[in-house]
Amino acid sequence: MEFTVKSGDPEKQRTACIVLGVFEPRRLSPTAERLDEITGGYISKLIRRGDLEGKIGQTLLLHDVPNTLSDRVLLVGCGRERDLGDTQYRKIITTAVNTLNEKGAMEAVCYLTELHVKHHDIAWKVRQAAETAQTALYRFDQLKSKKDTERRPLRKLVFSVSSRRDLADGERALEAGLAIAQGMALTKDLGNLPANICTPSYLADQARDLAKRYKNIKVDVLDIADMEKLGMGSLLSVARGSEQPPRLITLEYSGGKKGEKPVALVGKGVTFDTGGISIKPSDKMDEMKFDMCGAASVLGTFCAIAEMKLPINLVGVIPATENMPSGKATKPGDIVTSMSGQTIEILNTDAEGRLILCDALTYCERYEPEAVIDIATLTGACVIALGRHASGLLSNHSPLAHDLINAGKTSGDRAWELPLWEEYQDQLKSNFADMANVGGREGGAITAACFLWRFAKKFHWAHLDIAGTAWLTGEKKGATGRPVPLLTQYLIDRCLERQGRVASGG
Ligand code: BES
Ligand code: MN
Ligand code: ZN
Repeated sequence: MEFTVKSGDPEKQRTACIVLGVFEPRRLSPTAERLDEITGGYISKLIRRGDLEGKIGQTLLLHDVPNTLSDRVLLVGCGRERDLGDTQYRKIITTAVNTLNEKGAMEAVCYLTELHVKHHDIAWKVRQAAETAQTALYRFDQLKSKKDTERRPLRKLVFSVSSRRDLADGERALEAGLAIAQGMALTKDLGNLPANICTPSYLADQARDLAKRYKNIKVDVLDIADMEKLGMGSLLSVARGSEQPPRLITLEYSGGKKGEKPVALVGKGVTFDTGGISIKPSDKMDEMKFDMCGAASVLGTFCAIAEMKLPINLVGVIPATENMPSGKATKPGDIVTSMSGQTIEILNTDAEGRLILCDALTYCERYEPEAVIDIATLTGACVIALGRHASGLLSNHSPLAHDLINAGKTSGDRAWELPLWEEYQDQLKSNFADMANVGGREGGAITAACFLWRFAKKFHWAHLDIAGTAWLTGEKKGATGRPVPLLTQYLIDRCLERQGRVASGG
């Protein structure tokens, strides 16, 4: 799929289709209005007849519109003009792209990027349009023997900007949007792959692939012997029941100045979570192949920032393992010693995410990171608390939490903060070890974060619980690519802020 940015009048576009917006009730957008005049009122006549009310989701495809050079004009409902915000804009773009793809217009010039969206500039609109279009066109059909390909798929999409002055901004935004979409596609592909293919070693190979593709990414993969030497007893206790060897994957992207402290991303990479001896019920257990989506989002974010050549230093740490029951598996009541030296009584082997992340967090200390963000499909409780729209966010440093929440707002990949309070720590008390790995049903997402907090005392840290946001269930079952947009936006904002500080001498 090819994308470009262009500035020009709709009637002059020699293309298979031009795409214009119509507001509710039956009101033309400014560009549609302009084309209507040139066509002698052709479009407004159709609208007046009641062919398109302008509701979001509605479309009307016109052929051979007089006085234009394009084969078709696609009118897309945009809802009420004053309600046009982020969510509506993304829905409108999705509808347009799906319609173009189905109706066989292989190329199109899209004027929806010129719509006025509350609080946003042209760069935001172009970037979101590119990301949204790629999301709509994403298919996971690697494992289907017969692919149901469109007869005439959309191949080329041009986003229009209203003035030539916007071209440079638009082009840069387009590049960023495509980089993020590429990162999301990698994250989705890895999430969607079944656990018999996407094993810990497979994730390690994927990281190595990134290092081959981008020369400023370096990858190192630790095996069981390395982990034993480091004393990662907690991580190893989860891997014990599996025939698949665990891996600790580290990535280093050096786009920033030498010696500049990195941001570290830590991703939960449980390639299949049966629950171990505290085994899960079988209903929907297949979805536990998605339990490595945190890891996949780290790889996807590395891909996006390397594509964008972001001037930043970034570290990735991915503990990867299966969680399986077996004669060798860890049993409830077993006590292990983490790399930090703290001992853990494993009361529930299904609370395995925190057991692998705690050693990964301790491992992060060696990078002296400016900030550490872990990303994990950690608790069902987070899905109960927040549903599937927001990732859970908990942090020991409020400016970091603030920056992540804002990055979520900008990117449309939102997070919502839950309290990380000392009071909740009591729930993790153990009679036999320094702590238990579970804190009971109450506030389950919070006590999980409280557990991790004990291993994040030496740096600014935030935890993203993506159990509700990393994949969709039901008919649309599949990975979402979240929170790659949020993480990438956070890193972009950091670079901009730093540049601003340099420019202003601060
Ligand atoms: N991977 C799961 C969390 C999960 C469950 C994500 C369902 C999405 C949907 C995690 O390892 C887990 O099993 N968590 C337990 C923790 C409990 C034993 C304290 C949970 O949430 O039930
Ligand atoms: Mn589990
Ligand atoms: Zn899990």
